Amino acid sequence: MKKLNLRSKKIEQEVLKNYKINSPSKLPLENKKYFKEYILKREKLFRDCLKLPKEVFKNKKILDFGSGTGEHDILYAQWGGKLDLVEINPISVNQTKKYFKIFKLDKKINKISNTSIFDYSSKQKYDIVISEGVLHHTNNPKLGFDKLIKNLKKDGFCILQLAFDYSHFQRSLHRYIINYLSINNSSSNVVKICNKLFSETINRALKFGGRSKKQIIYDFYTNPKHKGINLGDIFKWFKKNNVKYYSSYPSIEPEGLINGLHTNVANEFINSFPSMTVFQSINFLLASMNDEMYFKKIIKDSQKNAKMWSKFMKNSNLGDFENKKYNFKKYNLNKNLNDYLNNLEKILRNRNDLQIKSIKIFTQEFNKLNKVLLTKDINKIKLTINQFKLLFKGYNGVPSNYIVGYKTK
Ligand SMILES: C[S@@+](CC[C@H](N)C(=O)[O-])C[C@H]1O[C@@H](n2cnc3c(N)ncnc32)[C@H](O)[C@@H]1O
Repeated sequence: MKKLNLRSKKIEQEVLKNYKINSPSKLPLENKKYFKEYILKREKLFRDCLKLPKEVFKNKKILDFGSGTGEHDILYAQWGGKLDLVEINPISVNQTKKYFKIFKLDKKINKISNTSIFDYSSKQKYDIVISEGVLHHTNNPKLGFDKLIKNLKKDGFCILQLAFDYSHFQRSLHRYIINYLSINNSSSNVVKICNKLFSETINRALKFGGRSKKQIIYDFYTNPKHKGINLGDIFKWFKKNNVKYYSSYPSIEPEGLINGLHTNVANEFINSFPSMTVFQSINFLLASMNDEMYFKKIIKDSQKNAKMWSKFMKNSNLGDFENKKYNFKKYNLNKNLNDYLNNLEKILRNRNDLQIKSIKIFTQEFNKLNKVLLTKDINKIKLTINQFKLLFKGYNGVPSNYIVGYKTK
């Protein structure tokens, strides 16, 4: 019989060994400027992106699976949460305890369990359960999720941060290439190859993440387990555990859904048709830069279009029939509406062209990569990668995904 529902203690120990050399989560909270920006970013993530303002945490019982060095938990405590933390790495547990003393928040921790999430059990139920950056480092993320969710109260929120397989694809390719080129998979060998081939990605993470180069490399490249998780599978885990999709960042919802309240609104629509996440998944796979830059031209077009619409409303007077000044003969309604609609069509075409062009470039570069890999010549591979426009550039696909659900039963 296939043992589908098993954990792998071996992998848990290997991941732990890797993280003991370098904790992936430690952030410089002691730096006041950094801490201030960190608070703003986390508040923005929860309130603006995940629709969970910090007030939601007040007096709530919170369980954090794989809490790392406790940086996130400091904020949940400051927001009024009462915490139970589970973390396998004793070094990180000690760092967490230090933080809570420094911030005088010790009383906000109910319990820190220095154990694997797979060994954790509790009679308590929680209002909020969280696991950030953990499940994809285990052999059985589904089992990890089941363990987490069984502690959640009805109507409680479950907050997950992981990498969807689309998002993770480019980074998975990095790992594949390193493995392919390695004589052995020793850390020093991995570090050498990733520094040679993927320094642009590492330096970008260094610039934006607040972590050291070594932390980034040990979290990502030397880590024995880092897998992308299928979004459809997550919806199956949700369904089995009576969890309804609530929010996500980046959003998995198709843009501009206008379903009325008598039918599926956005989160229900995605619950009913998880495959409709396909439109966003294209971006998860291809993302190389912020959309603001990517859509530069379209932003300009949209501003022009908004002006055209305002002018049209004013001149046609179609927003206000009561106005006596309306002159049917003088204003060419037909022509002006057609001009406006043509402009709309152009905007849509520009946007789609941009995405189709990206898919084409991505395909070409992926094929080139496959070809050059056959040479096993690291200098040639580096040269080819350096010439890419999209593959392994900037974001390298969306670096991580947040998804929130709530328990209905
Ligand atoms: C990438 S870090 C994320 C830490 C923290 N949640 C954060 O977002 O900053 C992953 C953490 O999960 C912990 N971890 C990995 N596997 C675990 C397991 N099976 N049980 C408990 N903790 C685990 C690691 O030790 C590490 O601290």
